[in-house]
Amino acid sequence: MRQTIYSTYLHHQENFRDKWHEFMSGPMHFDSAHFVPELTPLFGTDEYNSLTPEQRHKLFFEYLKLVGEALVLFEQILVYGVRFLEQDFKKISPEASASLKQFAFEELYHSQGFRHFLHSNSVFNWDHQKIYADSRRLKNSIAWIVKKAPACVFLPGAKLEAFTLSYYRMIKKYYPDNRQNSWIHLNHIHQVDESFHLPLEFDLHDSIFDKAGPLKTFFGTIGFVLIMQIALIIGSYKVIHYAFPEYSFIKKIRWMMKMARWAVRTTPAYQEARAMTKSQFEKKKPKWGKVLSFIYW
Ligand SMILES: [Fe+2]
Ligand SMILES: [Fe+2]
Repeated sequence: MRQTIYSTYLHHQENFRDKWHEFMSGPMHFDSAHFVPELTPLFGTDEYNSLTPEQRHKLFFEYLKLVGEALVLFEQILVYGVRFLEQDFKKISPEASASLKQFAFEELYHSQGFRHFLHSNSVFNWDHQKIYADSRRLKNSIAWIVKKAPACVFLPGAKLEAFTLSYYRMIKKYYPDNRQNSWIHLNHIHQVDESFHLPLEFDLHDSIFDKAGPLKTFFGTIGFVLIMQIALIIGSYKVIHYAFPEYSFIKKIRWMMKMARWAVRTTPAYQEARAMTKSQFEKKKPKWGKVLSFIYW
């Protein structure tokens, strides 16, 4: 049997909660002073150059809200998927099932941390303008897929975890001190846990794949990845809509497409996340890895 990360993970993450409690009970600070042009969508393009300083600030904070909310959404899905896999817990090794429980528990903490951050910093206006938190239809369709094929969450999840690692590396260049503001603090403690989750997801996939049903999981993964694309479109539209409410519908659509392309093609964080996922595929050789390789395209 091949080497898994289970025992290292369970041992290392015993006290993962301490850093989250410290974050949740500490002061929250993130405001206009932390604006970074290079981390703003479309930076360096003609579109960006046409914006006023105030519009650039708005775009910056709306995009950060999108990143935060997307993480909350997908981490909740992971937790939801694990709930439906609980019946298979008995069929996998005790270490695998303990890791699965620990993993879901950590994701629960993460989504609470991101919610707390968005809620506590008034610059996001999160109580009035949410990206995904009130998109019932989107949530219901993801829930439907995950309920039918819960094991489909692992490998697409791994790409997301890779993104959290590369995103942290990207923003760290502009906020070199991990306690400089709440956003870098949050992303720092998050990536500590996620650095374990990335390889872990591949081990969980392999442990549960046969029991959960390969074909079902394969089709579930396609559905899941498609929904992620829809979520990207919805998210990008809302960012543009909230940042520039005065734009016409056509102009919002045009900017939305440019922004979506920027988010998944131009940002170094996303390019790096794809490369990291691909190299994990090559290293871990997950079951059905070849046909599931569309995940990192
Ligand atoms: Fe997480
Ligand atoms: Fe994670």
